[in-house]
Formats: sequence, C-alpha cells, structure tokens
Amino acid sequence: MPLTMYQDSPTKIKHIIAIAAGKGGVGKSSVTVNLALALQKQGFSVGIMDTDIYGPSIRKMLPEDRLPKQKGARLIPALSNGIRTISMAYFRKEQEASVVRAPIANGMISQFINGVDWGNLDYLLIDFPPGTGDIQLTLCQKANLTGAIMVTTPQEVALLDVRKAMNLFHQVNIPILGIVENMSYYYHAPTKEKIYIFGKGGGERLARENGFPFLGAIPLAPTLCHVGDLGQSIFALPDLESQQIALAFLQLATQLTSHVALVDSPKGFELIWKEMN
Ligand SMILES: Nc1ncnc2c1ncn2[C@@H]1O[C@H](COP(=O)(O)OP(=O)(O)O)[C@@H](O)[C@H]1O
Ligand SMILES: [Mg+2]
Repeated sequence: MPLTMYQDSPTKIKHIIAIAAGKGGVGKSSVTVNLALALQKQGFSVGIMDTDIYGPSIRKMLPEDRLPKQKGARLIPALSNGIRTISMAYFRKEQEASVVRAPIANGMISQFINGVDWGNLDYLLIDFPPGTGDIQLTLCQKANLTGAIMVTTPQEVALLDVRKAMNLFHQVNIPILGIVENMSYYYHAPTKEKIYIFGKGGGERLARENGFPFLGAIPLAPTLCHVGDLGQSIFALPDLESQQIALAFLQLATQLTSHVALVDSPKGFELIWKEMN
C-alpha cells in the first residue's frame, strides 16, 4: 500500500527504507547512494534523506544538479543525478562542525520527515545516523518505515554493534529486510580471486542466526572510495572493477525489491520468509 506522508499534498512514497548500522564508517552512506543509483537504473524513482546531522556525507558523494528550494512551508529536495535528496549539508557550511544539542537535532529530523515535498517516489532511502539514540527512535516512530537494511562489515566488533541496532528496530516493530555485508572481500582481478581480508561469512552468519535474509556482499574496493570522494557515479565508469561493484549494487537492489514485496504481501513478511527456508 502506498504511504501518504501529507494529507494536503500529492506526495506519495511507496516504500521508505532505513539504511542503518550500529556504528559509523561501515559504509551506510556509500550503500545508500549506490543502492539508490542501482534502483534508479532498474527504473524506480528514488529519494535519499540524509539524517546523519553530525556527519552528513550524501551531498559530497552525490553532488546536486539543483539545490533544494522553499515552496511555501515545504522544501523541494535537491536533485542529484536524477535522485531527490535532502541533507543537513544543504543548510550549513561544509567546514562547520554541527554542534547541535539532541533536542534541536531531533527537531531538524522532524522537519525532514514532515516538511519535504518529495512528489511521487517508489523508494525513499533514509541514511540513518550511527548508533541507537534519540534521532533513530524518532525516525522509527515517525517516518512510516517499510523496513530496515542493516549494513555491517565482516569484523566481529561491527557485528556486535549491528546486533544492538537490530534490537532497536525489533522493539519498535519495524521489519528488518535483511543484512548487507560491506567491505566483504577484495577482488584480485589478475587471479579472479576473492580475498576475505576481514574474515569470511560474518554478515551471512549474523543473518542466519537471527533469521533475516542476507541481501548481499559489497567488495572492498578503493575505486568505490575514490568515486565517493569525487562525487562520481560508479555506474558511469567503464572499467571492469567498477562494473563488478555496480553489479553487486544492482544485485542488492534486486534483493531489496523482492523482500519489500514480501513485506507488502498480505500474508506477512515473517511467515513467507520462514516458508522460503
Ligand atoms: N566497499 C567499500 N570499499 C572501499 N571503501 C569504502 C567501501 N564502503 C565505504 N567505503 C569508504 O569508507 C568510508 C566510510 O564509508 P561511509 O559510507 O561514509 O560510512 P558510514 O556512512 O557508515 O559512516 C568512506 O570513505 C567510503 O568511501
Ligand atoms: Mg554516513
């Protein structure tokens, strides 16, 4: 069922997906941006809400072609590579540290939830801040989430933190659509070998132990870091390594859309997932 965010506006967002993790630096923003680009390649209309008030990075990774603008009491999101985006980065200078007390930050998030005119979207991806604080809880309670994707790296410490974040979603009854393992392996092109630098199978094990789908593995690739820093799209690069990474994100997008269809199913997500195993 399409979710309507505002009574008085034509905004309709079919699916609102949280991209979350227990900690920073595991690749939430990278996954958000590249998953958005992959969904767009598959023909969906996509928006990104960057809610990392203290470290917004979406604007850098996906520079805007058009800045956000005010329309009455609402904000029209920026347009970046055809993706509608909103981020704190549009409202403060890049070098300025975001020294904002928690209640103010929470107010900003509420404005993001209530005050943006997205138009019609198939997917709105919300880049969550790291951890399990007030902002995350506000988003869970107010943002009409379809479900959450958990991003982890293979190391045990990251896995421990992502468990805490999963508990938050569980407590507020938001379905966890699945787990993505980022920086999973290094692809050694000359030998076509996958080298598991941080250990193999951590994300998949975490998914299995908790009964959640494993949505995919994204390689550790310097190119991904470089294109992110330069604000380029991995999908626009013709070399083999970039195409491999783009393929991993396209596969992730396919997994996401099929699991979202299960959540939408009147039979309910959990039941169908169990049947599939
Ligand atoms: N799979 C990857 N391979 C190489 N570098 C990556 C990968 N994923 C993320 N990075 C880099 O790691 C850093 C942290 O990623 P980021 O997406 O900002 O994490 P988070 O949003 O969780 O804090 C960034 O410099 C990013 O470019
Ligand atoms: Mg981030």
